[in-house]
Amino acid sequence: MSTQNPAAATTAAPARIQQRRRYLMCRPEHFTVSYRINPWMEPAKPTDTAKAVAQWQTLHDAYVALGHDVELIDPVPGLPDMVYTANGGFIIDGRALGVKFRVDERRGEEQPFMDWFAANGFEVIQPVEVQEGEGDFLLVGDVILAGTGFRSVGDSHREIGDVFGKEVVSLRLIDPRFYHLDTAIAVLDPVEGSGGAERANIAYLPSAFDEESQRILAQRYPDAIRVSDEDGAVFGLNSASDGLNVFISPRAKGFEAQLRERGYNPVLIDLSELLLGGGGIKCCTLELRGNR
Ligand code: ARG
Repeated sequence: MSTQNPAAATTAAPARIQQRRRYLMCRPEHFTVSYRINPWMEPAKPTDTAKAVAQWQTLHDAYVALGHDVELIDPVPGLPDMVYTANGGFIIDGRALGVKFRVDERRGEEQPFMDWFAANGFEVIQPVEVQEGEGDFLLVGDVILAGTGFRSVGDSHREIGDVFGKEVVSLRLIDPRFYHLDTAIAVLDPVEGSGGAERANIAYLPSAFDEESQRILAQRYPDAIRVSDEDGAVFGLNSASDGLNVFISPRAKGFEAQLRERGYNPVLIDLSELLLGGGGIKCCTLELRGNR
């Protein structure tokens, strides 16, 4: 599918090329906040499951309308965080590395995700070390950026490098609000060989990382979009991109403008109800790479 990119015609921004994606999502039929495993979660505050489902549906429908394939995993009663499918695994070339949650509350999700991968033709690899899948691992071009500090342990970075035979860059998160890597980095041009001409690029929130990690990011991605603390605080970075369309929170106004300047097309999706669980657009999206 090709999409017009009017911004590129009128500004100096490069033409962006949309790539078709395949995502795994989970309808939040059992969504609620009944425990607290990140600072966003307040079990005493009421949640509205119907609203969560309706908001989630807008994201789902936006992906489909823009030509992406969306697969669904059945929600399991008693596992309210299963909607955040990014934490269900990490997949490249039809090979799915399962997850081992840091937090007991989510360990019940491990098997259902691995069962889904197996039933859908993926080779499933059982993890040894504690890690929370695409929440903390992001494929940028041919490199895996890997987060640690709150959930995934450092040893899982070595493990994922061995499993996929790729270079892994470890990054340390230091702000408890940004406890998964995908809350502080958005991959804008994610796929290997994307576009050809330019390097895969990212957007990130510098203040979420320790000094060494900030240095690494600045050096590796000199053209990255650096997002303001204000936009980071509304989960602006927890977004998905197909190389042209970038699905972001409508509250991340500065980031939206930065994306337009670069020739991307921001698609605004409000997941305010799911933010009560500490998750946003990317958390609800697991990329399925390969196997067909
Ligand atoms: N309540 C979930 C947790 O704390 C939210 C997960 C968000 N997922 C993500 N990929 N950042 O584990």
